[in-house]
Amino acid sequence: MQRSDAKKNDFLYECYCKIEDDYEKKWKKKDFYTFISNQDNIFILSHPKPVGYLNARITRDGIEIISILIDKKFRKIGIGKSLLNQLLIIASKKKIQNIFLEVSVENLTAINLYKKFNFIRVGKRKNYYFQDEKYIDADIMKLVLF
Ligand SMILES: CC(C)(COP(=O)(O)OP(=O)(O)OC[C@H]1O[C@@H](n2cnc3c(N)ncnc32)[C@H](O)[C@@H]1OP(=O)(O)O)[C@@H](O)C(=O)NCCC(=O)NCCS
Repeated sequence: MQRSDAKKNDFLYECYCKIEDDYEKKWKKKDFYTFISNQDNIFILSHPKPVGYLNARITRDGIEIISILIDKKFRKIGIGKSLLNQLLIIASKKKIQNIFLEVSVENLTAINLYKKFNFIRVGKRKNYYFQDEKYIDADIMKLVLF
């Protein structure tokens, strides 16, 4: 790895840590580096303000969004939309047809965002999340690009 790459990765990890406020979910530096150094993985940091990120992986079936998270202080100003738009550009350059994700059926904010991009619900995973002492289903959503 070149020195400039290492610096860039350090910067990305620093920003990622500031955004990810859930200690349980936060990746260790080593895991983060392993993720971003894999060509089949995608990590997009918002810019000019590095206050949100989207990560995803390329699979046989398309792109799977793993997570999208915006710092609470910077929500509702279009950063989520901008990250998804950047992902669509990547998908189009790579000629990838499908984008998938899973979202809690209770996360109406995120569902609204995905619907805005024409994601549709294609399935459900029963009791997929465990939050606040209860199980919550996940919707599987899909966007077909061409
Ligand atoms: C979901 C999330 C990524 C949206 O990011 P954001 O930068 O605030 O979203 P944007 O400002 O780009 O808004 C895009 C659309 O999302 C929807 N939306 C955003 N905030 C909303 C809210 N509080 N209530 C309802 N809909 C909302 C709207 O449809 C909005 O479009 P509009 O502004 O044209 O009405 C952000 O709320 C977040 O980080 N949530 C916590 C993590 C999370 O739930 N991630 C998704 C896991 S699957």
